[in-house]
Amino acid sequence: VTSSIAFRVARLQLPLRTRRLLLELPARRHVPELLRWIDDAAIARWTLHIPRSYSPKDAAEHIRRARGGFREGSSISLQILRRSDRKLVGGIGLHDLDGTHLNAEVGYWLGRPFRGQGYAQEALRAIVRTAFRGLGLHRLTARVFLGNENSIRVLRHCGFRREGTLRDEVVKDGTFRSNHLFSLLSSDPIPPSQGSRRRSGRGPRGSA
Ligand SMILES: CC(C)(COP(=O)(O)OP(=O)(O)OC[C@H]1O[C@@H](n2cnc3c(N)ncnc32)[C@H](O)[C@@H]1OP(=O)(O)O)[C@@H](O)C(=O)NCCC(=O)NCCS
Repeated sequence: VTSSIAFRVARLQLPLRTRRLLLELPARRHVPELLRWIDDAAIARWTLHIPRSYSPKDAAEHIRRARGGFREGSSISLQILRRSDRKLVGGIGLHDLDGTHLNAEVGYWLGRPFRGQGYAQEALRAIVRTAFRGLGLHRLTARVFLGNENSIRVLRHCGFRREGTLRDEVVKDGTFRSNHLFSLLSSDPIPPSQGSRRRSGRGPRGSA
């Protein structure tokens, strides 16, 4: 089964497209933007693997790993571009792809100027669709440090449910940190996106 997930990953058509975004493998030409946006205390504070001082070497390593993980079918690590101007707005990934148990873990970040516009939700919905329909996965998980309310809202908007707290699960900067564990099953309902709710609120009732 593990090899069949690699086979499905290999057949994925990238970039993934949404209304406003393109999700594609990270590319060297976007490294200057990546370095600019990722130099952000909020990102370092709320993620496990992104360091506070992120160097060009880290970026090169990120690209190498993303491409390797995609080739092997073990992870799908994508940069998020805005379609209107092709600017890098963030990153999103499916990690620990498990073809036996049909699960994976999601993670994401947005550059500070791009928050509050629904881009994270839009990218996450695309990843969820790809995971369930494109890859045939059954369960997605997300780990969120206690207190990361922005990320919790993104997950809830996309239908993720909180399963519980993983107490002192990881060590970050020399301190134990606890995670909320969120999950979404392929059989769970996914709430309509806020963008479409707003549009249908203004338009005629019952229109598609
Ligand atoms: C977590 C993070 C990605 C969330 O970013 P965000 O901008 O709050 O999330 P979204 O892009 O989905 O935007 C959501 C907000 O935009 C609003 N919005 C505006 N226009 C919108 C539109 N057209 N469509 C949908 N939502 C829209 C939504 O109402 C929502 O606000 P609400 O939650 O108060 O309802 C961001 O805070 C971040 O990068 N944090 C640091 C890294 C991090 O924590 N990563 C996650 C680790 S678990």
